[in-house]
Amino acid sequence: MRDMIDRLNTKYPIWNAGMGAGIAGPKLASAVSEAGGLGVLGCGAMQGADVAAMITETKVLTKRPIGANVILPMSDGSDVAACFDGGIDALVLFWDDIQPFVKDAQSRGIFILSQCGSPDDAVRAADAGADGIIIQGIESGGHVSSSQELVPNLENIISHVKPLPCIAAGGLSTGAQIKDILSRGAKAVSLGTRFLATHEANANDAYKNRLLASKSEDTVVTKLFDGGWPNAPHRVIINKDYTTWVANDSPDAPNRPGEDEYIGCIAKTDGRELKLSRYTTMPAVKDFTGSIENLPLYAGTSVDNIHTIESVENLFKILVTEIVKADK
Ligand SMILES: Cc1cc2nc3c(=O)[nH]c(=O)nc-3n(C[C@H](O)[C@H](O)[C@H](O)COP(=O)(O)O)c2cc1C
Repeated sequence: MRDMIDRLNTKYPIWNAGMGAGIAGPKLASAVSEAGGLGVLGCGAMQGADVAAMITETKVLTKRPIGANVILPMSDGSDVAACFDGGIDALVLFWDDIQPFVKDAQSRGIFILSQCGSPDDAVRAADAGADGIIIQGIESGGHVSSSQELVPNLENIISHVKPLPCIAAGGLSTGAQIKDILSRGAKAVSLGTRFLATHEANANDAYKNRLLASKSEDTVVTKLFDGGWPNAPHRVIINKDYTTWVANDSPDAPNRPGEDEYIGCIAKTDGRELKLSRYTTMPAVKDFTGSIENLPLYAGTSVDNIHTIESVENLFKILVTEIVKADK
């Protein structure tokens, strides 16, 4: 087995989650890698040409290892192909079977990981030849593949896939939590929401500020925002579209309030415009024009400990100081 953790050789066992639609874009991923972690690009819901451009830009900003994340149920294959051709170091796949991609990744020297929520999924990925497993807990922001809390899930899955390296995700935002999770056998942590609240994350300011104003009890796991990826549970901060849906007795599609109405658009760098309709899975990226009350505000229970928007560099200083303090 290839020893992924040793060969990636990051200074700190801290990865950013590859938050899709480019929320984890070149600025965030390169800053995380430069700060000593593993920066992971969020390629979910993107076409191959856009993914290729993100990888090229990231590789100008850092020479350190980088990863990329692809959401398989949203993939047309061009995103994975761009990752293979772009020369990334680690490919994180989410939600479906990784087996069709293992050989290609390995022949190119790219580590391949599966983000999993259950022992069955993790064992399937291990048997297919994964170099590592990212274990999700139900605390996670964004799409959640787990019905279990992180700690029991982590300990259970580690025992099933030993000696494969496992990385923990879900609800983590402080150095003390990271220290605790590492002491339970995780080789690294993958943080989503905590890195969403950084200057480098490609999310719009209203969304970032909502993180600071929210507590874990303001988040909920739902299947409401399903445009482009149906029947997949996700944790979001409760907003107007969610409360309106609940006030209307939570009807199924296509009978939800304002179904298919236009709610805003995302301006692309090449002048294209992506029009969005209500209940889309698309998050509020920086170039979104519209109201965040109409988009999924993906966030984990980790919002409880997020009170400031930081630069990635400063966030690493804070987390490392907290880890050292928790050691004493
Ligand atoms: C805004 C946002 C977008 C996300 N997008 C993706 C994605 O595209 N692919 C993926 O595998 N996971 C995605 N996730 C889930 C993360 O991989 C990870 O499991 C989660 O962020 C961990 O929980 P935390 O947010 O409390 O750190 C996303 C999470 C957030 C908060």
